[in-house]
Amino acid sequence: MVPVSHGRRFAVLSFAFVLGVGAFGCNGNDPVPQEVLDDLPAEQGSPSALHRPGQPCLSCHSTYGAAAPAFAIAGTVYKENAMGALAAAPNVKVEIFDSAGPSRFACTNAAGNFYIEKDKWADLTFPLKVRAGQRSMNSIIGREGSCASCHKLPSDDRPGNGAGHDSAGVVLVDDGDTDPICGGGAP
Ligand code: HEC
Ligand code: HEC
Repeated sequence: MVPVSHGRRFAVLSFAFVLGVGAFGCNGNDPVPQEVLDDLPAEQGSPSALHRPGQPCLSCHSTYGAAAPAFAIAGTVYKENAMGALAAAPNVKVEIFDSAGPSRFACTNAAGNFYIEKDKWADLTFPLKVRAGQRSMNSIIGREGSCASCHKLPSDDRPGNGAGHDSAGVVLVDDGDTDPICGGGAP
């Protein structure tokens, strides 16, 4: 167990690195997560549970990124509207089956974002199986807490739903695939 005081100091230090990115071009202390952070767009407005949909939440909401609260797992769920465009999918139940205990779930909010805080699932044990609405992911998640590490947003070289050589596309559910337990209509 790392003593609390040490953990705090580390978190403050990391946060300084994050703040330093834009202003000073600081490279942080871990090239892989730092590269991900460097590529993220600037904040739109102020941070909230609705912010940065489709982005890898744990790049910031982790010991490394030092944004509070830290998450065990988080992501964003989309649907395709009548025009075939991507839209946030609120009120969707995302169920996570870890390797240790019973499954847990989180509900997507108005931005399609969902998250489980790290201190609410401290012993989350990888690998995981997941399900969003009625769709199950066939493969297992070995170590990533951010869905968006694999389910990336569309870009110039990943048009449409974001699928490409380095991405499975955004997490998609069918329109109307909400759950009463998440404040939605019948599944
Ligand atoms: C680039 C870094 C970054 C990313 C990526 C990011 N966040 Fe945040 N988030 C922050 C910061 C900074 C705060 C403000 C709290 C702080 O400074 O510790 C914050 C705050 C929050 C809060 C707390 C809001 C409140 O009112 O207390 C929630 C919830 C949240 N983010 C959810 C998410 C979700 C879900 C994702 C992914 C879809 C995400 N964040 C992605 C940096 C980030
Ligand atoms: C390590 C990479 C990776 C991570 C992390 C990941 N996924 Fe996936 N996901 C995939 C791949 C690849 C597929 C397509 C093949 C499959 O179903 O396994 C997929 C498929 C899915 C599907 C099925 C899509 C469909 O249309 O049937 C759902 C739902 C899904 N993922 C949800 C999630 C959620 C929710 C998270 C975060 C909690 C997540 N995934 C994290 C790689 C990942």
